Amino acid sequence: MQPPMLAQPPQAVLFDAYGTLFDVHSVAALAEQLFAGQGQALSLAWREKQIEYTRLVSMSQTAGREHDAPFYKPFWDITRDALRHACARLQLPLSHAHETQLMNQYRALSAYPENRAVLTQLQQHGVRAGILSNGDPDMLATALRSAGLDALLNPVLSAHSVRRFKTDPAVYDLGPQALGLPAQAILFVSSNAWDALGASWYGYRTLWLNRSGQAFETLGGAPHHVANSLNEVLALFNIHA
Ligand code: LAC
Repeated sequence: MQPPMLAQPPQAVLFDAYGTLFDVHSVAALAEQLFAGQGQALSLAWREKQIEYTRLVSMSQTAGREHDAPFYKPFWDITRDALRHACARLQLPLSHAHETQLMNQYRALSAYPENRAVLTQLQQHGVRAGILSNGDPDMLATALRSAGLDALLNPVLSAHSVRRFKTDPAVYDLGPQALGLPAQAILFVSSNAWDALGASWYGYRTLWLNRSGQAFETLGGAPHHVANSLNEVLALFNIHA
């Protein structure tokens, strides 16, 4: 038997962007062309360092700054910093031209193929669907435009507005504030287990999109739903294609 809250459909949905709607590892093909035999390793090391840096930045304060003016770098800059570190760690020589090529590829990551149909169905059924992402507004706007998804997602909420990154509650706060709904009435969908966990702790109703059979975090706490395709979001809104 489902707990009472889960028996009701959620009233809106917010998607994480990178890893959930956009395939962050779609850069591996270009990375492989540039660094034969290392494309996959570079893509993984890049993503891992990018997320580690968001946490480092979010938790830190530089000398002379007050708590209300935290240290901050936009996600785009962090992504470039992480690329440089990943190349250094793997001992890959990163020329300026290669860096530009890889960053341009990151700007227009492939979207997962099922996104469009699912987002269209949600829109046709009047379900409010937006994004809540660490990405800065320019990055998100470009990625959405290049994937042709910009008319299907609103609001697009960026961690940039609070100069913190997930899993800081100031970022998760953006959802209820923008939608005028309590967190438990909002379905938060993420492929990143740590993000699904952080959002569950915060109070969202969560769906962990586990496309590739990963293990969930073992810190305590669990997502409310687990799916292996974005299509499964529809059933939670009683939409049956
Ligand atoms: C995002 C990263 C965490 O879009 O994937 O927020």
